[in-house]
Amino acid sequence: MNKNIAVIILAAGKGTRMKSDTPKVMHPLCGRPMLSYVFDLARGLGAKKTVVVLGHQHREIRRIVPAGVKIVLQDKLLGTGDAVKRALGALAGFKGSVLILYGDIPLLKKESVKGLLKFHTGNAIDATVLTALAGDPSGYGRILRDKCRAVRGIVEEADANDAEKNINEINTGIICFSKERLSGVFKYLKADNRKKEYYLTDIISVFYEKGLLVEAIRIKDAEEAMGINSRLDLSRASAAMRRRINHDLMDKGVTIASPEHTFINYGVKIGKGSVIYPFTVIENNVIIGRNCSIGPFCHLRDSVTLKDGTSAGNFAELVRTRVGKNTLIKHFSYLGDADIGAGVNIGAGCVVANFDGAGKHNTKIGSRAFIGSDSVLVAPVEIGRGARTGAGCVVTRDVAADSVVVGVPARPYTPRSKKR
Ligand code: UD1
Ligand code: CA
Repeated sequence: MNKNIAVIILAAGKGTRMKSDTPKVMHPLCGRPMLSYVFDLARGLGAKKTVVVLGHQHREIRRIVPAGVKIVLQDKLLGTGDAVKRALGALAGFKGSVLILYGDIPLLKKESVKGLLKFHTGNAIDATVLTALAGDPSGYGRILRDKCRAVRGIVEEADANDAEKNINEINTGIICFSKERLSGVFKYLKADNRKKEYYLTDIISVFYEKGLLVEAIRIKDAEEAMGINSRLDLSRASAAMRRRINHDLMDKGVTIASPEHTFINYGVKIGKGSVIYPFTVIENNVIIGRNCSIGPFCHLRDSVTLKDGTSAGNFAELVRTRVGKNTLIKHFSYLGDADIGAGVNIGAGCVVANFDGAGKHNTKIGSRAFIGSDSVLVAPVEIGRGARTGAGCVVTRDVAADSVVVGVPARPYTPRSKKR
């Protein structure tokens, strides 16, 4: 734990530009609310205390706040400066540096923030701003420097003149303050700007004018500091997060044939030697073993486990399903709420009818079973070990181990010679 660092996460804003009924910070990035990534970052820094400021739709956001993180309510959204002032109330008695993180900046990496903290604490600075050089600075606060290139303030886009708008050094929003200096500054903040808000960013010019030590360090990769304000930003950040997830899996020995066309959620586990073919979508709580073959065009939805050597191929959709070793589901199948053994062959076009219009039901398929093409298994139903179903059958009753069923509805198959 870093005893000298406290983190304040700002997440009270409305997120008006998202045009959404969902609070902005709850919008998912690769299957997870963007704010959760910021909580992870705060935990990774080992801060002594973490405070999150909530306001708009706070009831919905509360449920993802980790234990140990203090919630402070900002009942009126008076701006980022006001939010930090309120959060400081929860840091009474704490001495050291206060790091501000924003709930809408989910791509920020621990290493970058650690660099900022080290620089800030190592040089006894009063305020250190993490800045970035942006190709397109629009939407961000611009860094103002004096003749000696020292940081003298931050101007918000809404209040910037044309010359200031041309500055491409931006405020990422991530700022580290000396707690002692920060506490004394709020009386100088005024809401005399376009938005009539108390801007956190105005603190920088107050510090500068008071002769306090203000520094800036630049983040190498501006993408990390991207703030999400609109759906377009969300899609760009999702693409960046997706790239990270795919790179990480490839580093661990997974082949991803075309990473730009593969959509894997946060937390998915895939064993080495597995190959993921294009246009595959893998959602939350999916665990794939070693040497599996997935896709192309495969959709693994929530809570799917595939053991080693399995194959889920073209247009297979699985949800809440467990599949044993070396089982093949090669083409056009829907499997929901199913428990499938090892060495099973699921023929082309097999469907589990798990929903009867009122509720979902389970299906069990024993090891080495052979499910003929186009079989429909009407749940709840159990197919015994080594049993076979004929092509096109509709199975409405349990099938005994090693037996064969055919037809609609499926009945035990009796070879012709035995019929007489
Ligand atoms: C803010 C910065 C801007 C910076 C940019 C980086 C200010 C005034 N501006 O602008 O300099 O370049 O982030 O992405 O800080 N929030 C509250 N309470 C409020 C208002 C906002 O908690 O009263 C929270 C929001 O939920 C959000 C964060 O603060 O997580 C930033 O607010 P937002 O409105 O997105 O600020 P920007 O306009 O992006
Ligand atoms: Ca923002």
